[in-house]
Amino acid sequence: MLNRRNFLTAAVGVAAATGLAACAKEDDSSSGSTSGGSKAIVLGFSQVGSESGWRSANTDSVKSAAKEAGYTLKFSDAQQKQENQISAIRSYITQGVDVIAFSPVVVTGWDAVLKEAKAKKIPVVLTDRSVETSDESLYVTLVGSDFTDEGRRAGKILEKVIAKAGLKGDVKIAQLEGTTGAAPAIERAKGFKEVMDADHADDWKIVVSQTGDFTRAGGKQVMAAFLQSNPDINVLFAHNDDMGIGAIQAIEAAGKKPGKDILIVTIDGVKDGFIAMSEGKINAIVECNPLLGPQLMEVVQKVKNGETVERWIKTKEGDFMQDQAAAALPTRKY
Ligand code: AHR
Repeated sequence: MLNRRNFLTAAVGVAAATGLAACAKEDDSSSGSTSGGSKAIVLGFSQVGSESGWRSANTDSVKSAAKEAGYTLKFSDAQQKQENQISAIRSYITQGVDVIAFSPVVVTGWDAVLKEAKAKKIPVVLTDRSVETSDESLYVTLVGSDFTDEGRRAGKILEKVIAKAGLKGDVKIAQLEGTTGAAPAIERAKGFKEVMDADHADDWKIVVSQTGDFTRAGGKQVMAAFLQSNPDINVLFAHNDDMGIGAIQAIEAAGKKPGKDILIVTIDGVKDGFIAMSEGKINAIVECNPLLGPQLMEVVQKVKNGETVERWIKTKEGDFMQDQAAAALPTRKY
């Protein structure tokens, strides 16, 4: 983990026109120059979308950290579409930005555009999510969480939740997966399954599992269908808080008590998740920290300076049981 350090004093920015990809939402927050008068680093950032509370907090963190660092940020929201991200990255290459950062919506399909960036000698930093690539030199580093470990932590905290609730007999789990093909969906499912296979091959079973696309609406709709097909579900593992919150609405609409009739473990730790947990509707949350902006800007500076950076800069995170929610809620930063 890199130490956080002081950034360059921010210079006041003026918005500039963009020429970025059609379909995606774009904006520029330009600083122009650093306080020392040298040219500001130009960072092209392609965000996944605005699918969740986590994502909003992540976007705010990136924008405010770029401003704080005095960088010119070219920001694009891909609305959860890979083609929009590829267009945005191509546009950043054409504009000749200093560094490109992006949070890939899915893991595969990036080699061609990353090769184009490499050919123009523009370094690429991944943030939040990883990619699968044939050539490791196509990106410099990943700043983000260990999603497999988050899945494992979800499995381990579910053991505590089950013990606390005194749930006896078969554990029938519904899993709400994140966006199909996205690193957090693949890896959280993998980590959770590792715990199941190692310690609960006989007593836990995932009876239904489907994507809710990391959205509240998706979580609600898919959970309603789960309850129809499998009314005896007694545990929900949702890959993020937003889907868990959507599912809570479906559970209540079905006349059941979330957090009691159906024990719920989610991932993220956004404020709304903590509110639901303090109301007794979520039993435990595995934290995934979205406040990656300061670390990202630090890495971008180092990359621009030609310094070596770690291949994966992991985020520090904690886990929370329901009885910690009320005390933790006022201190949550996102
Ligand atoms: O990639 C991080 C995940 O993406 C968060 O857990 C989820 O809320 C977001 O949409």
